[in-house]
Amino acid sequence: MKTILITGCSSGYGLETARHFHALGWNVVATMRKPRRDLFPASERLRVVALDVTDIDSIALAFELAGPVDVLVNNAGIGLFGALEHSPLQKIRDIFETNTLGTIAMTQAAIPQMRERGSGVIVNITSTTTLAPFPLAAAYTGSKTAIQGFTCSLAHELLPLGIAVKLVEPGYGPTTAFAQNTEIRLEDVLPEPYWSYAEPILDAMADPALFTTEADVAKAVWQAVHDQSEESHFPAGADALALLG
Ligand SMILES: NC(=O)c1ccc[n+]([C@@H]2O[C@H](COP(=O)([O-])OP(=O)(O)OC[C@H]3O[C@@H](n4cnc5c(N)ncnc54)[C@H](OP(=O)(O)O)[C@@H]3O)[C@@H](O)[C@H]2O)c1
Repeated sequence: MKTILITGCSSGYGLETARHFHALGWNVVATMRKPRRDLFPASERLRVVALDVTDIDSIALAFELAGPVDVLVNNAGIGLFGALEHSPLQKIRDIFETNTLGTIAMTQAAIPQMRERGSGVIVNITSTTTLAPFPLAAAYTGSKTAIQGFTCSLAHELLPLGIAVKLVEPGYGPTTAFAQNTEIRLEDVLPEPYWSYAEPILDAMADPALFTTEADVAKAVWQAVHDQSEESHFPAGADALALLG
């Protein structure tokens, strides 16, 4: 039975992906900063392990506790919506620490055991912001686009070792905790000169015609993990698919 380790399982896409793989018979290591066993059914196949992807010691301990891992899903991420001019540089550093360097550090930690076994899959969750520029999300887009390039280069490097590296690109998911998981107030990062530009964008986000659900992402991760081709890109959600035409 195969084992999948997923980051950021306390809510949203990570939580649903952990539940999906568990329901379909996998061993799941559901990681999160503050472990919550109550989010999952009691099962010997599901372990909840503490992990902060910005902390190298936490990463090492999580892999030690997890044991052999066949699939790593780098899902943990934080967002920032607003004008770049008013986005605090420290917040931008935090976004890159989590979304970009956290993913890179987790990948480095996973490779040795996968290389020794000659098999493994690493799935990096980016965003459709890497496929088509989304306004008022420049720093976030930068953090995810870096992972897009990182993934496509690494996929070549690890292919001869039997390790696949894939991207899952979700669209806008209004039902996750993503928008709430920021201590930044919208009015601080979107002051008056940006109002007329931002208003229609905010209106569209409040009532999106198409969007991505947690289940869409879980299914796209499943597809990416089981893909036997060299395809790197797995868009998730009705809006992501519409974007690609
Ligand atoms: N929702 C969207 O519109 C959307 C669109 C495209 C892509 N995405 C991407 O999809 C992924 C999941 O987002 P989501 O929408 O499911 O949001 P979410 O509900 O906020 O989930 C994000 C998860 O990341 C975790 N996390 C944050 N910082 C972490 C850290 N330093 N170490 C470990 N875990 C950390 C959070 O855990 P805590 O409980 O510890 O904070 C949470 O479990 C993210 O990478 C996001 O960028 C989201």
